[in-house]
Amino acid sequence: MQNNIIDIEKQALESIEQAGNSEQLEQLSIKYLGRKGVLTGFLRNISALPEDQRPSAGKRANILKGKLEKVFKNAFSKLESVDGKDFTGIDVTLPGRPAQRGSLHPITQVANEICDIFLRLGFDIAESPEVETDYYNFEALNIPKYHPARDMQDTFYVSENIVLRTHTSPSQPRVMEETKPPVRIISPGKVFRCDSDVTHTPMFYQIEGLMVDKNISFGDLKGILTTFIHQFFDKQTSLRFRPSFFPFTEPSAEVDIRCVMCKGKGCRICSKTGWLEILGSGMVHPAVFENVGYDIEKYTGFAFGVGIERMAMLKYGIDDIRKFYENDIRFLRQF
Ligand code: DAH
Repeated sequence: MQNNIIDIEKQALESIEQAGNSEQLEQLSIKYLGRKGVLTGFLRNISALPEDQRPSAGKRANILKGKLEKVFKNAFSKLESVDGKDFTGIDVTLPGRPAQRGSLHPITQVANEICDIFLRLGFDIAESPEVETDYYNFEALNIPKYHPARDMQDTFYVSENIVLRTHTSPSQPRVMEETKPPVRIISPGKVFRCDSDVTHTPMFYQIEGLMVDKNISFGDLKGILTTFIHQFFDKQTSLRFRPSFFPFTEPSAEVDIRCVMCKGKGCRICSKTGWLEILGSGMVHPAVFENVGYDIEKYTGFAFGVGIERMAMLKYGIDDIRKFYENDIRFLRQF
């Protein structure tokens, strides 16, 4: 009997020692400690022994059981660490995963480009609120309440006297109230109109420009805007100044460029005219100067407003303004 238990121990330890992987070890554990295993069978047969041998045989068998359990446990963990299952360090031999890098939105890129051109021409950047009073958005710009000129812009009213600005032009009276001439600023930002189709989104971007000093003439306006357009598109781009109307400028002009798609032959983009309208401009109306307390005998100036999306669409040949705001990464990645 005693020999028997010594044999079991010897065999078990030897085969555990030789087990090469956790599967073999598992089999051995079942063989010795399982419900139908060698040691369990031995314990079950104790009742068949002569009565005086039973206690010591039982004791020895239980000691061996405990010992084998420990030996198995150690052997398992030794094998697992060899298998690498519990390996938690960093494998420095693997190729790295590159971090995702964002990029500037095409509208931001074009706005920066336009600002850079004007900064080089000596303009400063002035910021102005997106939620604006009726006064700065309209009245200071010579657009009285209930005047038909308000129909040009479909306005989001926050309350009777507060609006989401419909253009960046309110930056003009705001800057002039704060500064004496000479003034030379551009003011980029979001504007809002209740409008939505292939060429309009309810929120879009504009850049306003304003230059006021003694002796500023329409010739300065033409010079600055021609330089801007030649730098933004290219020197070959022809442009024309077409008479127009804005309540805050007199005279007013819209600027057209030769269609960048068909080079003037006439296509769908330019509605077969060969020209594309890109901005509004004019000489600052004396009523605007009076509203901000500028001496109209002493000072003259010009102003302009450019739609940034439109400039981006023409530069990159994009035919639907809504693409800028759908956040389709496949579209945005191209810029
Ligand atoms: N604010 C005008 C608009 O949004 C654009 C504009 C036209 C701005 C003429 C000007 C200007 O400064 O002189 O339609």
